Amino acid sequence: MKFLIIGDVVGEPGRKILFKYLEKRKQNYDFIVVNGENSAGGFGITAKIADQIFSRGADVITLGNHSWDKKEIYTYINDEKRMVRPINYVKEAPGRGYTIIEKKDRKIAVINAQAKIFMPPIACPFLALDEIVPEILKETNIIILDFHGEATSEKLAMGWNLNGKVSLVYGTHTHVQTADERILSGGTAYITDVGMTGGHDGVLGMNRKESLQKFKDGMPSRYSVCEENIKINGLEVEINENTGKAESIKRINIHYDEV
Ligand SMILES: [Fe+2]
Ligand SMILES: [Fe+2]
Repeated sequence: MKFLIIGDVVGEPGRKILFKYLEKRKQNYDFIVVNGENSAGGFGITAKIADQIFSRGADVITLGNHSWDKKEIYTYINDEKRMVRPINYVKEAPGRGYTIIEKKDRKIAVINAQAKIFMPPIACPFLALDEIVPEILKETNIIILDFHGEATSEKLAMGWNLNGKVSLVYGTHTHVQTADERILSGGTAYITDVGMTGGHDGVLGMNRKESLQKFKDGMPSRYSVCEENIKINGLEVEINENTGKAESIKRINIHYDEV
């Protein structure tokens, strides 16, 4: 099965290139996962935007530390099986941390987890994954994890922690694509960060002017979405649908004009 994984979609420019890409190429893929935590103006996701992302071809939307920025998502996520937020939030949090979707006669599990280093403190993602992966393996061996975190070391450690147990571990959140994609010894595809879908001539998808100002004066500022140099970042991953092992992993980093 061929998977398309899309890194954090930032605001309207990110949605624009995502929808263009899906319109032209979605038939090339069997399963599509989009990180939508920044899709509404850089902060969170709305029901309307989530519906649009699904209707253009996404099978699952993952989130991260910006999951809760738009309050309307609290109810939406309870009813929408195709949307996942980090699994290591308290069990009372709205929504779910993993989902299992049936497609092309196969069950595909998608998990979202949030890292600990330099991130808002929530429960340990390693312990959460160690508990849930054996349970999911009873149902399917096609398992992918969006591990939302800042530190390379923690993401790499998670890759090795799940090596041979899941099909793919990919990082999100830094918004900068790393060049370390590989297949680990147990057949788990891995990359530290898939990058960001949106304007790449700012700072992490937001305009550089306000970001620079904040670094200089330390005062609160209102960020606006960057619209310059729009690129789509993600991955194409082939997973053997019988064994659940990854067969290939390839980065996507394409400018709007080249989609
Ligand atoms: Fe993000
Ligand atoms: Fe994030």
